Amino acid sequence: MSGSEFLNVSLPKGRLGETVLNMFCRAGLGADAERGDRRLIFENEDAGIRFFWVKPSDVTVYVERGAADIGVAGSDIIDEYSPDVYELLDLGMGKCRMCVAAPEGGTVNKNLRGRLTVATKFPETAVRYYRGLGRDIDIVKLNGSVEIAPLAGLSDVIVDIVETGTTLRENGLVVTETISAISARLIANKSSMKFKRERILAVTELLRGYCGD
Ligand code: PRP
Repeated sequence: MSGSEFLNVSLPKGRLGETVLNMFCRAGLGADAERGDRRLIFENEDAGIRFFWVKPSDVTVYVERGAADIGVAGSDIIDEYSPDVYELLDLGMGKCRMCVAAPEGGTVNKNLRGRLTVATKFPETAVRYYRGLGRDIDIVKLNGSVEIAPLAGLSDVIVDIVETGTTLRENGLVVTETISAISARLIANKSSMKFKRERILAVTELLRGYCGD
């Protein structure tokens, strides 16, 4: 099968990606390649499907630029980067929340007049949220372990993903506001939706039967 006949799928490396790959397998679309190795591209030639195992925040880049026809990305990533793609399906998995959190017992978030310093991996999301509240903020863009920021005096609050709440709890932080609910979405490249439309819609329908499992 030549490269263009394959359906190229970008999946987020990590726990969500493993769950999604399992969903593709149950739908008969999985790759037969061993997943115990460090290979980042693997394919199921019979099914004509090839997977790219990429950083979660890069899935939308592959799909938007057409390197992948479809992909699975969290709605947190879609909201942050606003990629020019089609959203086909809410997979009902990878559920979590985008929240504002602050040190427990702190008063910082109650002072609505002060300029708030917000540490986050999601600056666009945070700016949009506070703009909606009419609140003036300073963004500190971080790449991970955001919970440390208010504890180290780098920020007043954080805007981050909360799944089980364990990371917040173990670091003495509490949720003060919920910004949005998050779940994994199947997305598609816009021109792939013209040229591989039947194929993509067939995969979407197959996956629909496994949503939320
Ligand atoms: C995410 C998120 C929180 C944590 C939330 O971080 O940014 O830190 O998971 O999960 P919990 O509510 O179940 O504790 P991730 O594991 O991606 O690591 P990072 O902070 O290095 O980005």
